[in-house]
Amino acid sequence: MTRHDTTSAATAAGPAPSAAERFPAFVAALTVLVDRGADEPTLLREGRRLLAGLVAHDDWLPAAAARARDDRYAQHLLHRDPQGRFSVVSFVWGPGQRTPVHDHTVWGLVGVLRGAERCEECTLDAHGRPQLNGHAHVMRPGDVDAVSPTVGDWHRVSSAREDGLSISIHVYGADIGAVQRHRLADDGTVVGFVSGYDSVPA
Ligand SMILES: [Fe+2]
Repeated sequence: MTRHDTTSAATAAGPAPSAAERFPAFVAALTVLVDRGADEPTLLREGRRLLAGLVAHDDWLPAAAARARDDRYAQHLLHRDPQGRFSVVSFVWGPGQRTPVHDHTVWGLVGVLRGAERCEECTLDAHGRPQLNGHAHVMRPGDVDAVSPTVGDWHRVSSAREDGLSISIHVYGADIGAVQRHRLADDGTVVGFVSGYDSVPA
């Protein structure tokens, strides 16, 4: 089960940057956090506060990173730490689009910027296989979720809008597009996948 709450912009500390400064300021603050060698609970706690501050304003995301795909949700890389310690990705969802049941294998934070997303939660059975457990929550702009093998790593995510796009900003503790991960296939078996990216910054 993923951990979720409704962290809001009101909890974000520090001076308010301009629209053009928001994302560079977010990356700089996250880099400082990672440079400190913060442990996972600290990364999730302080990273959540930073991400909540970023997604509290929908005025900074480049149009190129807000493009949808017709066939499935899109994943646009926004920033890759030069040392590969974290990455930031824009996920763009059209109506009806959803992920398979999947894991991440590293810590992650998901903040909704635009629209709404439904997160269906999983528990592991006696054999360690993920099962949808019937619990779901809808995330709206400003909401932030955490995932990791420690706090709960399996879920299925879909657009919660019947029309229009939904966009969320994801932060992961690795270059997530290159990470070997797992998903549940239609026949119930766990299979490997590597997500890649639909676009990377110029
Ligand atoms: Fe996910």
